[in-house]
Amino acid sequence: MKKIIDLRIWKATKDDAYRIAEISSEVAKEGMVKELNSSELMKIFSSEKYYVAVAGLNKEVVGYAMSTYSWGKLHILDIAVDRSRRRMGIGKMLIKHLISHALEKGLPVVYCEVGAKNIPALNLFTSLGFKFKIFSPLVAGGFYGLYLPIRKS
Ligand SMILES: CC(C)(COP(=O)(O)OP(=O)(O)OC[C@H]1O[C@@H](n2cnc3c(N)ncnc32)[C@H](O)[C@@H]1OP(=O)(O)O)[C@@H](O)C(=O)NCCC(=O)NCCS
Repeated sequence: MKKIIDLRIWKATKDDAYRIAEISSEVAKEGMVKELNSSELMKIFSSEKYYVAVAGLNKEVVGYAMSTYSWGKLHILDIAVDRSRRRMGIGKMLIKHLISHALEKGLPVVYCEVGAKNIPALNLFTSLGFKFKIFSPLVAGGFYGLYLPIRKS
């Protein structure tokens, strides 16, 4: 019988914090995202300044994307997908969800910063139409600031 894969994205709640902490701990070892502990996550979930989305595959959380409202834009702070679940379109679905959220909130721009050597993340954002805005050489390896103007259709 064919296996049904149920992939869903939803606004994260405190119930998802433990799994987000687990994924961030694993993915942080690759050096591209910061490890988030449970108390940091509780603060994030208690604040109106943040919006976090999670991806669930057959009900198990396998990725998250974290954002904050900043100076009239939605600033993506982090995205991470469980290593064993990559290249399945999950990262793209998470970012599309944040773009829809920015649209709902009437924010004109989605912004993110990506390490200059992080080819998977740079490809992910540019494949969704993000444009290079700045390059900062100040941190190790440098990073790009990428932005996406939101167009109402
Ligand atoms: C970046 C990351 C979130 C992508 O997640 P993902 O679920 O694998 O991404 P998707 O499957 O949606 O891929 C979307 C596109 O991104 C690009 N991409 C993703 N992984 C890539 C890789 N390893 N090499 C090159 N391009 C890649 C491709 O353009 C891909 O489209 P395609 O599969 O049609 O070619 C994931 O690799 C990750 O968690 N990395 C570690 C954490 C990290 O670097 N976060 C970013 C911090 S700014």
